[in-house]
Amino acid sequence: MKKIVTILVSAIAFLILVTTPVAASTMETATLFTNNCAGCHINGGNIVRRGKSLKSKALKKFGMDSTDAIASLIKNGQYAMPAYKGRLTEQQILDVSAYVLEQAKRNWK
Ligand code: HEC
Repeated sequence: MKKIVTILVSAIAFLILVTTPVAASTMETATLFTNNCAGCHINGGNIVRRGKSLKSKALKKFGMDSTDAIASLIKNGQYAMPAYKGRLTEQQILDVSAYVLEQAKRNWK
């Protein structure tokens, strides 16, 4: 009985260990989006140019449906969208690009 408990506790500890980094980084990216992007893109919208939202349909229409395209836009900016090169790291830009695509897939729910 004691052995089973030990095994269970170890298994749970192991699971926490392997899942936490992923959850933490997703949380970080969500916060990064909230702090840097949600001002204009709350809930995947676009308060400046309504048509250019972060929803799947708009992303597809404007060729923004890949992490490469989004990362390049974030880096360099476009019209009223500010450039983030130098303000966010390369990795943060890639993470937030993937986050946008992931959220778009789930319709920002
Ligand atoms: C000051 C407001 C503002 C902020 C802050 C902002 N954006 Fe934008 N974003 C815009 C505008 C305006 C456009 C449309 C640009 C254009 O006219 O082509 C846009 C376009 C986009 C697009 C393309 C949408 C499409 O349908 O083509 C993506 C993706 C995007 N932004 C992601 C982000 C991310 C990620 C961040 C945070 C790192 C961010 N934006 C921060 C204003 C903003």
